[in-house]
Amino acid sequence: MCDTVSNHSTSPIPNALQGDACALPSNLAPVDCVLAANLLCRLPEPTAFLDRCRTLVKPGGVLVLVSPYSWLKGWTDKAKWLGGYYKVGVEGGAAWQLCYG
Ligand SMILES: C[S@@+](CC[C@H](N)C(=O)[O-])C[C@H]1O[C@@H](n2cnc3c(N)ncnc32)[C@H](O)[C@@H]1O
Repeated sequence: MCDTVSNHSTSPIPNALQGDACALPSNLAPVDCVLAANLLCRLPEPTAFLDRCRTLVKPGGVLVLVSPYSWLKGWTDKAKWLGGYYKVGVEGGAAWQLCYG
């Protein structure tokens, strides 16, 4: 799933691009806005995507990052999960415990 970013002429947003977040062209010009909706926790390398956004978004631009952080090992190696997540079966009676790391 590493296609190059393409321009979608049918998009309601002028000059909107969409592409593989894991294979964005290195020469892609900085953009006004990056929308990553419910995407981060479906990437094998979420930190690499966030690092790429540092230069992909113009100074003064916007990164819209929306995520339920529903990490799954099938998508992302557990060592690469970001932020909080829930763990089953902790001591103390709680069914779930918020964890970080
Ligand atoms: C949980 S769905 C969210 C769909 C939609 N953005 C929404 O918010 O309803 C995750 C989406 O991420 C897309 N996706 C997964 N890996 C991707 C990648 N490397 N680059 C771009 N999109 C990806 C999938 O095709 C899927 O549509």
